[in-house]
Amino acid sequence: MNDKQLVALRAAQYVQNGMLVGLGTGSTANYFIEELARLTREQGLRCTTIASSAISAHKAQSLQLPIVALEHVASIDLYVDGADEITPDKTLLKGRGSDLVKEKLLAKAATQFIAVADASKLVSHIGQNFTIPIEVIPFAWQLAKKNLEALGGVGELRPNAAKDGFWITSHGSYVLDMKFDANIDANTLNAMLNNTPGVVEHGIFYQLADTILIAQDGVVSER
Ligand code: 5RP
Repeated sequence: MNDKQLVALRAAQYVQNGMLVGLGTGSTANYFIEELARLTREQGLRCTTIASSAISAHKAQSLQLPIVALEHVASIDLYVDGADEITPDKTLLKGRGSDLVKEKLLAKAATQFIAVADASKLVSHIGQNFTIPIEVIPFAWQLAKKNLEALGGVGELRPNAAKDGFWITSHGSYVLDMKFDANIDANTLNAMLNNTPGVVEHGIFYQLADTILIAQDGVVSER
């Protein structure tokens, strides 16, 4: 069993009968969905799920997990999702898969948000290993980019090589992948991006995670 699978299995232990459980997106979240399906099948666990993306919805449905649509809920009990980067102050960078709008809605709506990852995701500051995905309204992308550049951001629209154009998210946004000065703290950067007109959502999850489970060399630790 690899570390991603191990940490996903640990997160599944937090699920109790009757819970409404948010399903993240990515390979670690997929292991969680598989374990939830196994517990339902083999141990009679009863829970309803809500997906953060078309991919996780498809995965849940293919495993016969009960699923409800986001428009039908105002709060959820538990949300489990992976991350691309995790800092010591529990800030996450997410959205390489460009489904961060629903991911952030579920993270915020959950009574408990558990982030799950292997130790390769631990960084000292947000943006250390990846650019920051910023979803922008297509008609405002040039204005948003200019405003973000004025804040020190450097980056471009995410390309879609297959379609010889730009990447379009499931919510119809473009994605700007940008780097910012490493000395800007996550709180400030989060506020700067929140305050930029034309930005729909961005990948900084500033202190939204209640619990972070990290697996390293077969051992899970909680922070
Ligand atoms: C998708 C995400 C993923 O959770 C993140 O990319 C981690 O993926 P993986 O578990 O495959 O390493 O934020 O938007």
